[in-house]
Amino acid sequence: MKSDLNNLIIDYFPSSNGDNEELLKLLHQTSKIICDWFSVSGKLSPLPQNTIKIISEPAELGCEIKMLLDDINSLIYSSFNPSHPGSLANLDPPPLTISIVGDLVAGALNNNLLAEELSPSISIIENDLCKWFANEIGFGDLSGGIAASGGTLNNLNALACAKFNSGLTFDPEASLIISEDAHVSFKKCARIIGVKDENLIYIETDNYGKMDISHLNNEIKKSKSLGKKLFSIVATFGTTIRGSIDPVYEIGKICQDNNIWLHIDGSIGGIFAISNYRFHDIKEIDNLNIANSITINPQKILGITKTSSLLLVDDMNKLKKTFYTGLPYIDSSDDVLNRGELGVQGSRPAEIIKLWLGLKFLGKDGIDSILSSSIRKKFLFENILDKDKFYVYSGSLHISSFEPKNMNTNQINIWSLKLKKILLENKIMISRPLYKNRFILRVVFGNFNTKESHIIDLANFLNKNINE
Ligand SMILES: Cc1ncc(COP(=O)(O)O)c(C=O)c1O
Repeated sequence: MKSDLNNLIIDYFPSSNGDNEELLKLLHQTSKIICDWFSVSGKLSPLPQNTIKIISEPAELGCEIKMLLDDINSLIYSSFNPSHPGSLANLDPPPLTISIVGDLVAGALNNNLLAEELSPSISIIENDLCKWFANEIGFGDLSGGIAASGGTLNNLNALACAKFNSGLTFDPEASLIISEDAHVSFKKCARIIGVKDENLIYIETDNYGKMDISHLNNEIKKSKSLGKKLFSIVATFGTTIRGSIDPVYEIGKICQDNNIWLHIDGSIGGIFAISNYRFHDIKEIDNLNIANSITINPQKILGITKTSSLLLVDDMNKLKKTFYTGLPYIDSSDDVLNRGELGVQGSRPAEIIKLWLGLKFLGKDGIDSILSSSIRKKFLFENILDKDKFYVYSGSLHISSFEPKNMNTNQINIWSLKLKKILLENKIMISRPLYKNRFILRVVFGNFNTKESHIIDLANFLNKNINE
């Protein structure tokens, strides 16, 4: 059962007894297409001219590899191009080179992180790497973590665990507190874990985008008087639209006083916990160990290819208690912990490989270099952007959102749409988030290929073209 293709005869599966020369050729040809694209990606644009126009469905007979290579080529050149220096819209940096290799290795191994017997060594790597992260955060001996496919899933893992361990899983008054700037994933989580809309409590943010502590205290009092039962407060370490950091330590103390689970959504900024790089605004990073759980997404700044997200917890027994089923279709001895029993995902890809390789490849030095470069670029941009013309909504991390000072909401919405389009025509892709009921503009400085000269040009362009 082979597909014949223009000199390349590929078995359905890699040969388990003999050479794999043809597979090697195929991998080489595919790599060549990819590397050629990378080589010109800076001359292309962040977004393609057109999306792909090929037949998606399979035919009755399998198709030639040559045609598939052509399809891969077309797909690549019709895709979002995160390696372009003008790709500054979202938290999707270029892929770290070694993590591309990590994805290939994970695909080749096709192990399953559901169970130890299906991923004996990779399970150890995941366990050890999570423990290392937990240790860097300052958690104790019982701590550890689990990888899941994205921050949303890890926020869900954390809140399901918080609710279960509070004994409120089936309580209709179970309530959750987040800030008004928290990520939308918490709305999804609340629906999934059965938190009623009126029991998802939003706390106002201050002028710096941080959770307002006096409002938090008032809401806790109010919710108790209404008979609500709080099982978790979520603090954000790096909000999506302005990169703000909630006062983690103060919130943690309030949680301790009230016996409430503190979850930190560090999807964006939690990665600073493994870095030696410190700057004034980020001092709360050393307080992360006050939390019960923390989500960290190495995919968001470091460029570990998607998805790469970890949930770190202070006590692994709490995760196990929440998700353990005994996994009856896998025969394991009693001392084995199947890691698919530590979260909502069952079968899991070996995503940890690319994180493991990525961190070893970078070392602390490389990690510091990527993180500090993103913060430096943000400051450079904000120093040039004309504060007489723009309001800047910016927290501590590598994100700047802004709007013109002299316009009303309707004008701002029209302005941001127009500017975004003009910038894209000039090969600069920034985003247009809805913030406080209007569409503003946002730049994310997580692209290592973006040089300081690009940032200077962008800020000057905005200053000059504000009234376009
Ligand atoms: C602060 C924050 N938390 C959580 C998420 C969700 O992460 P993911 O897209 O990996 O599910 C995001 C995504 O941008 C985010 O900005």
